[in-house]
Amino acid sequence: MEGENVEVLEYDKAYEKYMNIIPTLEKNKGWITEHLVKYQGIWLTPKGGLKGVIMSQQLFKSKPNDIFLATFPKSGTTWFKAIIFSIINRKLFSPNEHPLLNSSPHECVPFLELLYSNKENLNSTLEHLQSPRIFATHSPYPLFSQLLGSNLTTSPTVKIVYVARNPKDVLISTWEFTKKLRHEANLPLISLQEAYDMFCQGLIHFGSYWDHVLGYYKASLMYPKNVLFLSYETMKDDPSFWVRKLADFLDQGFTKEEEGEGLVKKILDLCSFESLSKVGANKSGIQRFTSHVMVPSSYFFRKGVVGDWRKYLTMEMAQHLDEITKCKFESSGLSCFRSS
Ligand code: A3P
Repeated sequence: MEGENVEVLEYDKAYEKYMNIIPTLEKNKGWITEHLVKYQGIWLTPKGGLKGVIMSQQLFKSKPNDIFLATFPKSGTTWFKAIIFSIINRKLFSPNEHPLLNSSPHECVPFLELLYSNKENLNSTLEHLQSPRIFATHSPYPLFSQLLGSNLTTSPTVKIVYVARNPKDVLISTWEFTKKLRHEANLPLISLQEAYDMFCQGLIHFGSYWDHVLGYYKASLMYPKNVLFLSYETMKDDPSFWVRKLADFLDQGFTKEEEGEGLVKKILDLCSFESLSKVGANKSGIQRFTSHVMVPSSYFFRKGVVGDWRKYLTMEMAQHLDEITKCKFESSGLSCFRSS
Protein backbone atom coordinates (compact mmCIF):
# COMPACT_ATOMS: atom_id res chain seq x y z
CA MET A 1 0.00 0.00 0.00
CA GLU A 2 1.27 3.40 -0.91
CA GLY A 3 3.09 5.22 1.88
CA GLU A 4 3.29 2.12 4.07
CA ASN A 5 6.14 0.22 2.53
CA VAL A 6 9.52 0.62 4.11
CA GLU A 7 12.14 1.19 1.43
CA VAL A 8 15.24 -1.01 1.50
CA LEU A 9 17.55 2.01 1.79
CA GLU A 10 15.52 3.43 4.63
CA TYR A 11 15.65 0.09 6.46
CA ASP A 12 19.40 -0.26 5.94
CA LYS A 13 20.01 3.24 7.31
CA ALA A 14 18.01 2.45 10.44
CA TYR A 15 19.86 -0.86 10.79
CA GLU A 16 23.18 0.98 10.62
CA LYS A 17 22.09 3.18 13.53
CA TYR A 18 21.21 0.06 15.52
CA MET A 19 24.60 -1.52 14.78
CA ASN A 20 26.43 1.66 15.79
CA ILE A 21 24.55 1.96 19.06
CA ILE A 22 25.03 -1.61 20.36
CA PRO A 23 28.74 -1.35 21.32
CA THR A 24 28.10 1.87 23.26
CA LEU A 25 25.53 0.35 25.63
CA GLU A 26 25.89 -0.90 29.20
CA LYS A 27 25.51 -4.70 29.42
CA ASN A 28 24.21 -6.98 32.12
CA LYS A 29 22.98 -10.51 32.56
CA GLY A 30 19.82 -11.47 30.65
CA TRP A 31 16.92 -13.87 31.17
CA ILE A 32 16.11 -15.14 27.67
CA THR A 33 19.39 -14.15 26.11
CA GLU A 34 22.84 -14.17 27.63
CA HIS A 35 22.90 -10.37 27.98
CA LEU A 36 20.64 -7.39 28.24
CA VAL A 37 21.67 -3.91 27.10
CA LYS A 38 20.49 -0.63 28.54
CA TYR A 39 18.98 1.78 26.03
CA GLN A 40 17.45 5.08 27.19
CA GLY A 41 17.25 3.66 30.72
CA ILE A 42 15.48 0.44 29.65
CA TRP A 43 16.92 -3.10 29.68
CA LEU A 44 16.42 -4.83 26.33
CA THR A 45 17.51 -8.04 24.63
CA PRO A 46 20.08 -6.99 22.02
CA LYS A 47 18.57 -8.68 18.93
CA GLY A 48 14.81 -8.74 19.50
CA GLY A 49 14.12 -5.83 21.84
CA LEU A 50 16.81 -3.28 21.06
CA LYS A 51 16.76 -3.84 17.32
CA GLY A 52 12.97 -3.70 17.24
CA VAL A 53 12.83 -0.55 19.34
CA ILE A 54 15.45 1.31 17.27
CA MET A 55 14.07 0.14 13.94
CA SER A 56 10.45 0.96 14.84
CA GLN A 57 11.42 4.32 16.31
CA GLN A 58 12.86 5.26 12.94
CA LEU A 59 10.51 3.51 10.53
CA PHE A 60 7.06 3.13 12.06
CA LYS A 61 4.41 5.45 10.64
CA SER A 62 1.43 5.68 12.94
CA LYS A 63 -2.09 5.97 11.50
CA PRO A 64 -4.87 7.88 13.24
CA ASN A 65 -6.97 4.82 14.10
CA ASP A 66 -4.17 2.45 15.13
CA ILE A 67 -4.78 0.32 18.21
CA PHE A 68 -1.91 -0.72 20.48
CA LEU A 69 -1.95 -3.37 23.15
CA ALA A 70 0.86 -2.50 25.56
CA THR A 71 2.04 -4.93 28.21
CA PHE A 72 5.01 -5.87 30.31
CA PRO A 73 5.97 -9.40 29.13
CA LYS A 74 3.97 -12.22 30.79
CA SER A 75 1.08 -9.99 31.76
CA GLY A 76 -1.50 -11.67 29.52
CA THR A 77 -0.54 -10.29 26.09
CA THR A 78 -1.62 -13.44 24.25
CA TRP A 79 -5.05 -13.40 25.90
CA PHE A 80 -5.65 -9.71 25.21
CA LYS A 81 -4.40 -9.98 21.64
CA ALA A 82 -7.15 -12.56 21.10
CA ILE A 83 -9.80 -10.47 22.86
CA ILE A 84 -9.04 -7.20 21.06
CA PHE A 85 -8.73 -8.96 17.69
CA SER A 86 -12.11 -10.64 18.28
CA ILE A 87 -13.82 -7.40 19.30
CA ILE A 88 -12.50 -5.43 16.34
CA ASN A 89 -13.04 -8.09 13.68
CA ARG A 90 -16.32 -9.54 14.92
CA LYS A 91 -18.22 -8.67 11.74
CA LEU A 92 -15.66 -10.29 9.46
CA PHE A 93 -15.71 -13.88 10.69
CA SER A 94 -18.41 -16.39 11.46
CA PRO A 95 -17.89 -18.32 14.72
CA ASN A 96 -16.92 -21.51 12.85
CA GLU A 97 -14.38 -19.85 10.59
CA HIS A 98 -12.66 -17.63 13.08
CA PRO A 99 -8.87 -17.22 12.58
CA LEU A 100 -8.34 -17.91 16.30
CA LEU A 101 -9.61 -21.45 15.74
CA ASN A 102 -6.59 -22.30 13.62
CA SER A 103 -3.93 -19.70 14.22
CA SER A 104 -2.12 -18.19 17.17
CA PRO A 105 -3.13 -14.79 18.58
CA HIS A 106 0.48 -13.81 17.77
CA GLU A 107 -0.22 -14.34 14.07
CA CYS A 108 -3.38 -12.23 14.27
CA VAL A 109 -1.74 -9.32 16.12
CA PRO A 110 1.98 -8.70 15.50
CA PHE A 111 4.44 -7.40 18.06
CA LEU A 112 5.59 -4.02 16.78
CA GLU A 113 9.21 -4.45 17.86
CA LEU A 114 9.54 -7.94 16.38
CA LEU A 115 7.81 -6.88 13.17
CA TYR A 116 10.29 -4.06 12.60
CA SER A 117 13.30 -6.19 13.43
CA ASN A 118 12.37 -8.57 10.63
CA LYS A 119 13.23 -7.04 7.25
CA GLU A 120 11.98 -10.06 5.25
CA ASN A 121 8.36 -10.02 6.41
CA LEU A 122 7.91 -6.36 7.30
CA ASN A 123 6.26 -5.01 4.15
CA SER A 124 4.12 -8.06 3.45
CA THR A 125 2.81 -8.04 7.04
CA LEU A 126 2.08 -4.31 6.94
CA GLU A 127 0.24 -4.70 3.65
CA HIS A 128 -2.02 -7.43 5.01
CA LEU A 129 -3.08 -5.65 8.20
CA GLN A 130 -6.74 -4.68 8.14
CA SER A 131 -7.82 -1.24 9.33
CA PRO A 132 -7.88 -0.44 12.18
CA ARG A 133 -4.45 -1.97 12.58
CA ILE A 134 -3.78 -3.70 15.90
CA PHE A 135 -0.22 -3.96 17.20
CA ALA A 136 1.17 -5.26 20.46
CA THR A 137 4.13 -3.64 22.14
CA HIS A 138 6.26 -4.34 25.19
CA SER A 139 8.01 -0.97 24.94
CA PRO A 140 7.75 1.19 28.06
CA TYR A 141 5.75 4.39 27.57
CA PRO A 142 8.73 6.76 27.18
CA LEU A 143 10.07 4.66 24.26
CA PHE A 144 6.65 3.90 22.82
CA SER A 145 5.48 7.51 22.82
CA GLN A 146 8.40 8.40 20.53
CA LEU A 147 6.74 6.26 17.86
CA LEU A 148 3.69 8.46 17.84
CA GLY A 149 5.69 11.50 16.85
CA SER A 150 5.12 13.74 19.86
CA ASN A 151 2.35 13.15 22.37
CA LEU A 152 -1.20 11.89 22.34
CA THR A 153 -2.80 15.30 22.16
CA THR A 154 -1.68 15.35 18.52
CA SER A 155 -3.01 11.82 17.86
CA PRO A 156 -6.52 12.03 19.34
CA THR A 157 -7.87 8.80 17.85
CA VAL A 158 -4.97 6.47 18.61
CA LYS A 159 -6.02 3.89 21.21
CA ILE A 160 -3.70 2.21 23.68
CA VAL A 161 -4.87 -0.62 25.92
CA TYR A 162 -2.44 -1.28 28.75
CA VAL A 163 -2.74 -4.52 30.69
CA ALA A 164 -0.88 -4.80 33.99
CA ARG A 165 -0.48 -7.97 36.06
CA ASN A 166 0.58 -8.42 39.65
CA PRO A 167 4.38 -8.53 39.88
CA LYS A 168 4.62 -11.83 41.75
CA ASP A 169 2.82 -13.77 38.99
CA VAL A 170 4.76 -11.83 36.33
CA LEU A 171 8.01 -12.90 37.98
CA ILE A 172 7.02 -16.58 38.14
CA SER A 173 5.54 -16.62 34.65
CA THR A 174 8.72 -15.02 33.25
CA TRP A 175 10.96 -17.42 35.15
CA GLU A 176 9.07 -20.48 33.88
CA PHE A 177 9.00 -19.12 30.30
CA THR A 178 12.69 -18.24 30.22
CA LYS A 179 13.67 -21.57 31.79
CA LYS A 180 12.30 -23.34 28.71
CA LEU A 181 14.00 -20.95 26.28
CA ARG A 182 17.34 -21.07 28.09
CA HIS A 183 17.23 -24.84 28.08
CA GLU A 184 16.72 -24.84 24.30
CA ALA A 185 19.50 -22.29 23.79
CA ASN A 186 21.89 -24.34 25.97
CA LEU A 187 22.23 -21.49 28.42
CA PRO A 188 22.67 -22.34 32.11
CA LEU A 189 19.44 -22.10 34.06
CA ILE A 190 18.81 -19.12 36.33
CA SER A 191 17.80 -20.07 39.85
CA LEU A 192 14.58 -18.64 41.25
CA GLN A 193 16.58 -16.67 43.83
CA GLU A 194 18.68 -15.12 41.06
CA ALA A 195 15.62 -14.33 38.95
CA TYR A 196 13.95 -12.76 41.97
CA ASP A 197 17.02 -10.60 42.70
CA MET A 198 17.23 -9.46 39.08
CA PHE A 199 13.50 -8.67 39.00
CA CYS A 200 13.71 -6.62 42.22
CA GLN A 201 16.64 -4.64 40.76
CA GLY A 202 14.66 -3.90 37.60
CA LEU A 203 17.09 -6.01 35.59
CA ILE A 204 14.68 -7.66 33.16
CA HIS A 205 13.83 -7.17 29.47
CA PHE A 206 11.68 -4.00 29.06
CA GLY A 207 12.19 -3.32 32.78
CA SER A 208 11.97 -2.28 35.33
CA TYR A 209 8.52 -3.78 35.79
CA TRP A 210 7.39 -0.96 38.11
CA ASP A 211 8.53 1.84 35.77
CA HIS A 212 6.72 0.09 32.91
CA VAL A 213 3.39 -0.07 34.77
CA LEU A 214 3.71 3.46 36.15
CA GLY A 215 4.58 4.98 32.77
CA TYR A 216 1.35 3.78 31.18
CA TYR A 217 -0.70 4.41 34.32
CA LYS A 218 0.34 8.07 34.29
CA ALA A 219 -0.36 8.26 30.55
CA SER A 220 -3.86 6.86 31.19
CA LEU A 221 -4.49 9.69 33.67
CA MET A 222 -3.18 12.31 31.25
CA TYR A 223 -4.90 10.93 28.14
CA PRO A 224 -7.97 8.99 29.31
CA LYS A 225 -9.52 8.99 25.83
CA ASN A 226 -6.40 7.38 24.36
CA VAL A 227 -5.13 5.09 27.09
CA LEU A 228 -7.18 2.47 28.93
CA PHE A 229 -5.39 0.95 31.92
CA LEU A 230 -6.67 -2.38 33.18
CA SER A 231 -5.32 -5.50 34.80
CA TYR A 232 -5.14 -9.24 34.18
CA GLU A 233 -6.77 -9.77 37.56
CA THR A 234 -9.73 -7.45 36.99
CA MET A 235 -10.38 -9.15 33.64
CA LYS A 236 -10.36 -12.51 35.44
CA ASP A 237 -12.77 -11.17 38.08
CA ASP A 238 -15.37 -9.65 35.77
CA PRO A 239 -14.62 -10.54 32.14
CA SER A 240 -18.00 -9.52 30.68
CA PHE A 241 -17.78 -6.05 32.20
CA TRP A 242 -14.25 -5.51 30.91
CA VAL A 243 -14.90 -6.82 27.41
CA ARG A 244 -17.79 -4.35 27.11
CA LYS A 245 -15.60 -1.60 28.54
CA LEU A 246 -12.84 -2.45 26.06
CA ALA A 247 -15.27 -2.42 23.14
CA ASP A 248 -16.66 0.99 24.23
CA PHE A 249 -13.15 2.38 24.64
CA LEU A 250 -12.26 1.20 21.13
CA ASP A 251 -15.44 2.88 19.79
CA GLN A 252 -16.83 -0.55 18.94
CA GLY A 253 -19.50 -0.92 21.64
CA PHE A 254 -21.80 -3.94 21.35
CA THR A 255 -25.20 -3.29 19.80
CA LYS A 256 -28.47 -4.52 21.33
CA GLU A 257 -28.63 -7.23 18.66
CA GLU A 258 -25.12 -8.40 19.47
CA GLU A 259 -25.92 -8.44 23.17
CA GLY A 260 -29.05 -10.44 22.37
CA GLU A 261 -26.95 -12.97 20.45
CA GLY A 262 -24.68 -13.40 23.50
CA LEU A 263 -21.67 -12.12 21.58
CA VAL A 264 -19.75 -11.01 24.68
CA LYS A 265 -19.86 -14.53 26.07
CA LYS A 266 -18.95 -16.01 22.68
CA ILE A 267 -15.84 -13.81 22.49
CA LEU A 268 -14.85 -14.70 26.04
CA ASP A 269 -15.30 -18.40 25.38
CA LEU A 270 -13.29 -18.23 22.16
CA CYS A 271 -10.45 -16.41 23.96
CA SER A 272 -10.48 -18.40 27.18
CA PHE A 273 -7.36 -20.21 28.31
CA GLU A 274 -9.21 -23.51 27.95
CA SER A 275 -10.23 -22.87 24.31
CA LEU A 276 -7.07 -21.21 23.04
CA SER A 277 -4.70 -23.71 24.63
CA LYS A 278 -6.51 -26.54 22.79
CA VAL A 279 -6.13 -24.99 19.33
CA GLY A 280 -3.63 -27.00 17.26
CA ALA A 281 -1.59 -23.94 16.29
CA ASN A 282 -1.21 -23.05 19.97
CA LYS A 283 -0.41 -26.61 21.03
CA SER A 284 2.21 -27.52 18.46
CA GLY A 285 2.93 -24.43 16.31
CA ILE A 286 6.08 -22.33 16.43
CA GLN A 287 6.06 -18.57 16.44
CA ARG A 288 8.83 -17.51 14.07
CA PHE A 289 8.93 -13.89 15.19
CA THR A 290 12.31 -13.28 13.51
CA SER A 291 15.19 -15.47 12.38
CA HIS A 292 16.56 -15.14 15.95
CA VAL A 293 13.34 -15.29 17.92
CA MET A 294 11.40 -18.55 17.57
CA VAL A 295 9.13 -19.69 20.35
CA PRO A 296 6.88 -22.77 20.53
CA SER A 297 3.33 -21.40 20.78
CA SER A 298 2.52 -23.68 23.72
CA TYR A 299 4.98 -21.71 25.88
CA PHE A 300 2.48 -18.84 25.93
CA PHE A 301 -0.08 -21.05 27.69
CA ARG A 302 1.05 -22.31 31.06
CA LYS A 303 -1.60 -22.09 33.78
CA GLY A 304 -3.42 -18.80 33.26
CA VAL A 305 -4.40 -18.29 36.89
CA VAL A 306 -3.99 -15.59 39.54
CA GLY A 307 -1.77 -16.40 42.51
CA ASP A 308 0.39 -19.23 41.18
CA TRP A 309 3.36 -17.41 42.79
CA ARG A 310 2.29 -18.95 46.14
CA LYS A 311 3.73 -22.27 45.01
CA TYR A 312 7.15 -20.69 44.40
CA LEU A 313 7.92 -17.65 46.56
CA THR A 314 8.76 -17.69 50.26
CA MET A 315 6.78 -15.37 52.54
CA GLU A 316 9.85 -13.11 52.82
CA MET A 317 10.20 -12.86 49.05
CA ALA A 318 6.49 -12.07 48.64
CA GLN A 319 6.53 -9.46 51.40
CA HIS A 320 9.61 -7.76 49.99
CA LEU A 321 8.02 -7.58 46.52
CA ASP A 322 4.85 -6.15 48.06
CA GLU A 323 6.90 -3.51 49.85
CA ILE A 324 8.69 -2.47 46.65
CA THR A 325 5.35 -2.31 44.83
CA LYS A 326 3.73 -0.23 47.57
CA CYS A 327 6.70 2.11 47.73
CA LYS A 328 6.87 2.58 43.92
CA PHE A 329 3.12 3.00 43.36
CA GLU A 330 2.03 4.82 46.52
CA SER A 331 2.48 8.40 45.38
CA SER A 332 0.82 7.76 41.99
CA GLY A 333 -2.49 6.65 43.49
CA LEU A 334 -2.23 3.28 41.73
CA SER A 335 -3.44 0.67 44.19
CA CYS A 336 -1.80 -2.73 44.15
CA PHE A 337 -3.39 -5.58 42.23
CA ARG A 338 -5.12 -8.56 43.67
CA SER A 339 -2.47 -11.24 43.65
CA SER A 340 -4.15 -14.30 45.12
P1 A3P B 1 1.18 -18.09 33.47
O1 A3P B 1 2.60 -18.36 33.10
O2 A3P B 1 1.04 -17.49 34.84
O3 A3P B 1 0.29 -19.26 33.29
P2 A3P B 1 1.99 -13.24 27.81
O4 A3P B 1 0.94 -13.61 26.84
O5 A3P B 1 2.06 -11.78 28.12
O6 A3P B 1 3.30 -13.85 27.44
O7 A3P B 1 1.55 -13.87 29.21
C1 A3P B 1 1.53 -15.27 29.39
C2 A3P B 1 0.68 -15.56 30.60
O8 A3P B 1 -0.70 -15.42 30.25
C3 A3P B 1 0.86 -16.99 31.06
O9 A3P B 1 0.64 -16.97 32.47
C4 A3P B 1 -0.24 -17.69 30.31
O10 A3P B 1 -0.59 -18.94 30.83
C5 A3P B 1 -1.36 -16.67 30.45
N1 A3P B 1 -2.40 -16.84 29.43
C6 A3P B 1 -2.27 -17.15 28.13
N2 A3P B 1 -3.46 -17.22 27.53
C7 A3P B 1 -4.38 -16.92 28.47
C8 A3P B 1 -5.81 -16.85 28.45
N3 A3P B 1 -6.51 -17.07 27.35
N4 A3P B 1 -6.44 -16.52 29.61
C9 A3P B 1 -5.74 -16.27 30.73
N5 A3P B 1 -4.38 -16.34 30.82
C10 A3P B 1 -3.72 -16.66 29.69
